[in-house]
Amino acid sequence: MPRREIIIHYLIKHDWVSGSQLAQKLSISRTGVWNHISDLKQKGYKIESHPKSGYRLVEIPDVLYPELVRFELYTEIIGKKVVHFPLTVSTNDSLLDLGAQGYPEGTIVIAEHQTGGKGRYGRKWESTQKKSILFSILLRPYAVKLMDSYQFTILAAVSIAETITELTGFEFRIKWPNDIYYNDKKIAGILTELRGEMELINYIVIGIGINLNQDFSDFPDHLPSAGSVYLVTGICLDRLKFIKCLLKKIDLYYIILNKGGFEDIFTKWKRHCDTIGKRISFSSGNVSGTGIVADINSDGALAVQKEDNTQIKLYSGDIRIL
Ligand code: BTN
Repeated sequence: MPRREIIIHYLIKHDWVSGSQLAQKLSISRTGVWNHISDLKQKGYKIESHPKSGYRLVEIPDVLYPELVRFELYTEIIGKKVVHFPLTVSTNDSLLDLGAQGYPEGTIVIAEHQTGGKGRYGRKWESTQKKSILFSILLRPYAVKLMDSYQFTILAAVSIAETITELTGFEFRIKWPNDIYYNDKKIAGILTELRGEMELINYIVIGIGINLNQDFSDFPDHLPSAGSVYLVTGICLDRLKFIKCLLKKIDLYYIILNKGGFEDIFTKWKRHCDTIGKRISFSSGNVSGTGIVADINSDGALAVQKEDNTQIKLYSGDIRIL
């Protein structure tokens, strides 16, 4: 564990901590401790110092630093390693690179801001600093085939929907294939990218963007269908609490998935999904049309009863509820 993390965890758990206590814990000199404390203050931690009593943590910054995310996270796989960027192009791109470098399963990359946040189909994902949550998770699944990789997006969507409900009491819906909505406002999106060969997944990156605390004025005019958890619920959530709750759920469901429990996750997903029975317009590759959603199969496909009474199965694409 990095020294900075040890110090912060120790300060969170205790009130006043003497310099010599910390020096002993870290096997460094008291000057070394002082240097670390200065660095932490630079990073935005408010730490009181007293010649006799030592140090006391007064306030943590509103930044998703690894040492804060990892404090009492207690996950088995997700977040064992956390990489944080104040600014990056895209957390998915950063993590795809780290994946190629051999970073372990469960590594997450969090950014405070992205200059080139990616959405599905080459769209942009826009975010607001301090009000959004932007992160990606690296998985190296051994039990899931390439063709079943949609299962990770389903797992992530269920985890997001459940986290929002747990922290606000509001029920948000999943719109096929993987958007989190409340009425007609999109609150969160998932972009899953993978590297693999033949039928095998080498590694997979699940990118998650959540509009948490944005107000109306934070959304540009060209995004009329964007909303935030705050705008729906009136509750301004702590970003750190939210991401930790979400990581714990993803960890839990990933363990279930690895034990062959996809059906259970899919049942939950279907319960949250409000697309079945709805009249929709769809576009998938060069196919488009309108129809009624008859069902969503456990292979992730949307079964649409078209107006000419034929059925079509959609494995990817965009839909609009009419
Ligand atoms: C979508 O709904 O189209 C998917 C949006 C996914 C956005 C997230 S933000 C964190 C991660 N990094 C990216 O560049 N994209 C995903």
